[in-house]
Amino acid sequence: MIAKSDLRGSHHYNAGVGATIERLMASIVKISAMRDGEPAIERVQLLGGNVETGRQVTPVEQRWWRKDAAVRRRRPSYGFRGVTYTLSKGSGGCGQQASQRRVILTRASGVLYDTRIQQHYLETDMIVDPAYFLYHSIGQYPGKSADMAAALERFSKTWGALDDRQWSEVLRQRHAFLDLWRVLIDAPEGTLTSAENVTSALFSILGGLPAQCLRGKRVLVAADCFPSLHFLLNGMAGRLGYTLETVPVRQGDFWVRDEDMIAAWGEDVGLALLTFVTSTSSHRCDLAGLIAHGQQMGSLVGVDLTQGIGIIPFSLDDYPADFVVSTTLKWLCGTPGAGIIQMRADLIDAVRPELRGWFSQPNPFSWDLDAFEYAPDARRFEHGTPSVLACIGSVPALRWHAGQDGLLAHNRALTGLVIAQAGQAGLTLATPLAEHRRGGSVMLHLPGECDPDTVIDGLRQRNVYVDARGRILRVSPGVVTTAAHVARLFEGLVTLL
Ligand SMILES: Cc1ncc(COP(=O)(O)O)c(C=O)c1O
Repeated sequence: MIAKSDLRGSHHYNAGVGATIERLMASIVKISAMRDGEPAIERVQLLGGNVETGRQVTPVEQRWWRKDAAVRRRRPSYGFRGVTYTLSKGSGGCGQQASQRRVILTRASGVLYDTRIQQHYLETDMIVDPAYFLYHSIGQYPGKSADMAAALERFSKTWGALDDRQWSEVLRQRHAFLDLWRVLIDAPEGTLTSAENVTSALFSILGGLPAQCLRGKRVLVAADCFPSLHFLLNGMAGRLGYTLETVPVRQGDFWVRDEDMIAAWGEDVGLALLTFVTSTSSHRCDLAGLIAHGQQMGSLVGVDLTQGIGIIPFSLDDYPADFVVSTTLKWLCGTPGAGIIQMRADLIDAVRPELRGWFSQPNPFSWDLDAFEYAPDARRFEHGTPSVLACIGSVPALRWHAGQDGLLAHNRALTGLVIAQAGQAGLTLATPLAEHRRGGSVMLHLPGECDPDTVIDGLRQRNVYVDARGRILRVSPGVVTTAAHVARLFEGLVTLL
């Protein structure tokens, strides 16, 4: 990273564009350029010129600048038009090659311009400038495809080598995955491990809790939890001897109200499973209040972080849940198969996961059939050979995420636009209006007469990517999404509805 103050000293500019560049510089908080993992530029120059016509800018880049027009309109004082970025390495300008290099211009509200976005789309044969709103599903960041390919190539080289370094190397990389997760949620050492997915993570936990935590008690869950977890809780109720209590969504509402959870939550609740942010309304529950209530009732409280983590700040210091489960998909932009389990250290002591195996032990190579022993920490949730590949594939995304600081501000600016445009288009919001009560998505209730699949297809043809659950259209803008994309989404919606 080059400090803004250093940049200010190292670039030169013509007097005629000085004022514009001053405004531009004020908006830049970071510039970095990498090529093949090495810093790609020695010098950054900001020169006068016109990006719309300047030969140093590729047509792809010109389109990007035009797409950014909406941002410029909102912040006219930036004066981006009329400024060309030229990168130099030794022998002078290389605007033409910029798409093979990496240029990131960021301001507080997120990435403004990143040539690796273009490279990414070119590599994956996508049409330039797709409007991506699927952060509730997979999640993308500039350069993800190349980063992931590099990590997986490293894996395959290690795995295919004619030597014996495989396990030590891949387990070390998996450890990096676990450490990144621990830092992300402020989890103490030894309290977190990987799981294949959220459902299997919950299964391991349920099957390990001391019998008295659940038997003869109620397990509380909201009707807008992730259905897969409800299927599991329902299926396990008979064998583990609890009654599943599902708090309903009130007629006409789109999410379960926190006060209805509290009203249903008495001292006979052995376990409550909370959803940090829901997948169908992006409702963010009052986690602190609900956890505090659970503690008063003497219940265990687990939290599914999946839809909130990576966009809404979460720390176990602020939200002391007994356990949390999640995946590295969605806002964290990782791979499938890279879930996590985190549990309070003293509770770990008491759990005896029934799904256990050689990796649950302090020493997996202890093969004495009569001497099985649980590891003293979260490793006891492991069982057979861990699925290292998914963890390794997710490390670049977690590293990228750890280096970001403007993701939420960018999301808030764009979700604000989505909400405003939805109001103008007369669409019903299925997400709380209050910013502190919603996650990173905005859900829209599609009117009764339209067919959601036709709407999604029509938007896809306009290069706009959203999805729907029933009549709920899910719109999740992230780091690769821009204000121009929001405008295109609504141009499409207004035509299609
Ligand atoms: C709230 C929530 N929990 C969990 C999941 C994923 O669960 P699993 O990893 O078991 O597929 C999702 C996926 O969309 C989700 O939205």
